[in-house]
Amino acid sequence: MKIVLASDHAGFELKEHLKGIIEKEGHSFVDAGTYTEDSVDYPDFGFKGAEIVSTGEADKGVFICGTGIGMNVVANKVKGIRASLVQDMYTAIQSRKHLDANVLVLGERVIGKGMAEEIVKAWLGTSFEGGRHEKRIEKIRQWEEKHLK
Ligand code: RB5
Repeated sequence: MKIVLASDHAGFELKEHLKGIIEKEGHSFVDAGTYTEDSVDYPDFGFKGAEIVSTGEADKGVFICGTGIGMNVVANKVKGIRASLVQDMYTAIQSRKHLDANVLVLGERVIGKGMAEEIVKAWLGTSFEGGRHEKRIEKIRQWEEKHLK
């Protein structure tokens, strides 16, 4: 899969660290920035990354800011994005199995590198279960069709 990475300054170090993990898991990545530790605004990079997933240029996204909250809010405004702010293994796996989440959001100031690595590996390696969950996602799609451009 092709993964788009996006962060603000508060997620920059973890974004750089996760590049190696993503490649080790057999995936490629595109880096939507930020590219330095200088202070920036998370919406600029969250929207850029989310649009790359929304248009199909990347299969999935991994977005990082200090808490993950800002990136999660931003990504979920974009049509077709199902972003999940994850801090533990259970929600990492459930977000893929039940929600078919296409963006994983992490908070660099909340979780350690080790937990982030395990979450990313589990999230990338878990498939959507479909079945009864499909109709729920279809309801999200239909709402988006009706209400979003
Ligand atoms: C930046 O200081 C911080 O507010 C941001 O990374 C994020 O935590 C917002 O949700």
